[in-house]
Amino acid sequence: MVRVTLDSITKRFGDFEALKRVSLEISDKEFMALLGPSGSGKSTLLYTIAGIYRPTSGRIYFDGRDVTDVPPKDRNVGLVFQNWALYPHMKVFDNIAFPLELRKAPKDEIARKVREVAEMLRIENLLDRYPWQLSGGQQQRVAIARALVKEPDVLLLDEPLSNLDALLRLEVRAELKRLQKELGITAVYVTHDQAEALAMADRIAVIKEGVILQVGTPDDVYYRPKYRFVGGFLGSPPMNFVEAEIEGPYLNVYGSVIPVPAQYRETVERLGVTEVILGFRPHDAEVVKGKAEGLAGTVYSFEPLGREQIVTVSVNGAFVKVFAPEGEHFSFGEPVTVKLREDRIVLFDKKSEKALEFLGD
Ligand SMILES: Nc1ncnc2c1ncn2[C@@H]1O[C@H](COP(=O)(O)OP(=O)(O)OP(=O)(O)O)[C@@H](O)[C@H]1O
Ligand SMILES: [Mg+2]
Repeated sequence: MVRVTLDSITKRFGDFEALKRVSLEISDKEFMALLGPSGSGKSTLLYTIAGIYRPTSGRIYFDGRDVTDVPPKDRNVGLVFQNWALYPHMKVFDNIAFPLELRKAPKDEIARKVREVAEMLRIENLLDRYPWQLSGGQQQRVAIARALVKEPDVLLLDEPLSNLDALLRLEVRAELKRLQKELGITAVYVTHDQAEALAMADRIAVIKEGVILQVGTPDDVYYRPKYRFVGGFLGSPPMNFVEAEIEGPYLNVYGSVIPVPAQYRETVERLGVTEVILGFRPHDAEVVKGKAEGLAGTVYSFEPLGREQIVTVSVNGAFVKVFAPEGEHFSFGEPVTVKLREDRIVLFDKKSEKALEFLGD
């Protein structure tokens, strides 16, 4: 239950810079997701918070106290590793009890606490088994129990659900989110799964190549991405991007002309930009038959998903994906117009791929 402050953390391995001046403030009791592609530095950052790695430069504070030189065992963090190995020769009880044994806690206290977390994670009937007698999901919960049993100030989770099947992931994810709030523990949750980050986190830090590109609520990063990369990393399917040219009050998108969105008129004029990338989410557009105001194109493909379908439209060779209601019928090559929801359009500078409203930052 502490506030974690990262102040300009750089981590080098030899001459490779895995983290580049990362600054981040994680509030007390906050659930912060660290989201980024493979190799972006997520684990490195988590292990730096845990104290397993020492930053090459920069400082780390817990509740304002500088812990940069404090070893992991004195930081009171609970860590669930990416490959969450349990001790194979120990029963579940002893696996969970291990951090308390290390602290030489009294036997009856150990027994009580192990039982408590085991109940919380619904593995109390498994305490007498060995890890190899458990399913992947059960082993996962044991690893989480082991991290929780010492009542850590900060819970650090590195892709803790990556080895579970899709259904179990959904189940454990809901439990974990609830547990974190119930216990009021500050949590940092590393994942490369955008859906997981959106579903679980209070705030998401999007990291790429050792740089945090944006920190914000799920709503912020989803609807107001600071970079094209963020828009394209979140959402399924992700944000659509098409190149556009600004011609006075209009956007020319491969020959289709639409007004510059109201929320951008002032910015566009002030910045005097001419080449942009227009971004919009698949559910912030609709496909209408024939000609209308919007992006003219033809139906390239359509995929029913049960409740809705994804229609891929070729807009003069650029493909965009749009959700359409389940009952609507489309045919290949059919001429259509993609009508955009104006207030949800995001315009990015073509060169820097940064959203126009953030260009000054
Ligand atoms: N001990 C190390 N020595 C040298 N390079 C390292 C070391 N640990 C990590 N790296 C490099 O630092 C970069 C970031 O690694 P990191 O493990 O933090 O990525 P990640 O975001 O956790 O990726 P993944 O999603 O695949 O787990 C990678 O390019 C990796 O090869
Ligand atoms: Mg990792």
